[in-house]
Amino acid sequence: MKRSLLRGWTNDDFHMLEKGVIRAQHQLHETGLFSDESLAQLLDNQPDDFLTISTMGSDPTRFDWIEGDRNGASGREIVELVHAGKLWLNMRQLMKFQPAIAQVVHDIYDELESKSPGFTAQDRSANLLISSSTAMVPYHVDMPVNMLWHIRGKKRVWVYPHFDHRFASQTVLEKVCGGELSEDIPYDPEFDHYALVFDVEPGQLLTWPQLTPHRVQNLGGLCVSLSTEHKNARARRRINVHEANYWLRKHVGKFCNSASAEGIGAQARQALSRAIRLGRKLSAGKAKEQFVYTKSFAIDLQSPGGIRMLDVETRTPELLREAVST
Ligand SMILES: [Fe+2]
Repeated sequence: MKRSLLRGWTNDDFHMLEKGVIRAQHQLHETGLFSDESLAQLLDNQPDDFLTISTMGSDPTRFDWIEGDRNGASGREIVELVHAGKLWLNMRQLMKFQPAIAQVVHDIYDELESKSPGFTAQDRSANLLISSSTAMVPYHVDMPVNMLWHIRGKKRVWVYPHFDHRFASQTVLEKVCGGELSEDIPYDPEFDHYALVFDVEPGQLLTWPQLTPHRVQNLGGLCVSLSTEHKNARARRRINVHEANYWLRKHVGKFCNSASAEGIGAQARQALSRAIRLGRKLSAGKAKEQFVYTKSFAIDLQSPGGIRMLDVETRTPELLREAVST
């Protein structure tokens, strides 16, 4: 029998998956897969196109997130810079490039499926988040269902009320699912009054329902978290409903006041969303475009902080630019 990577889960924890906010325990931090040496090796095996390198300011009310270029830096050099500077790395789609971690992710999801009634995790993916002790991640949503397995360092996570349009309006979620916005969404510090706040230690998992807004502030040490993502029929339908609503609003001027993922209306909008995607593919030969940030700095070990700014115009989604300027 495989070793379980979960620890001390209650029946309620298994039952609440995708339905509520859960803090539970795991043992990923004891696998030895995430030491500095292992991280350097993982980074060396990760294609540049699937590694996001970011830095940011210190004020959570300002959106000053920028992304940069690896510029040929080795895994070891990048890990040293994360220790010394203020970087946030996202190694994306690990399941494709890191077989040892892919196996761990499958083991976890297989166990969750076997113990959580009705829970299915299809389209499994995983990202490894490696960040400096003072880094922070702005207010955002993740489109798939998202689970944050914390492994090293300490971070504070604010989790805002789920399925509540005061914190992520229907229009904003439509723009995220329609590809007009990145997953970063407008933030108001007043939202914090309604957040659940967790100081997360190695060996703890946080998870919440799909599209729940959250933000993160690291509290100390080099932070490593595995962010696993999955979809299933309901999760795909929820994204498709938002995407269809976005299309109807943009091209037909029709505002749909329901974003429910259940019922005949959701099925119909899922069909519309799939037809739109098929039409786009047949006419332009390409999939939906998702917002991407310009690379506005490069890793440069000779520069202060290991970062050299590039002479490019930084691209920021209009909604976030408005939020920053007001
Ligand atoms: Fe997230």
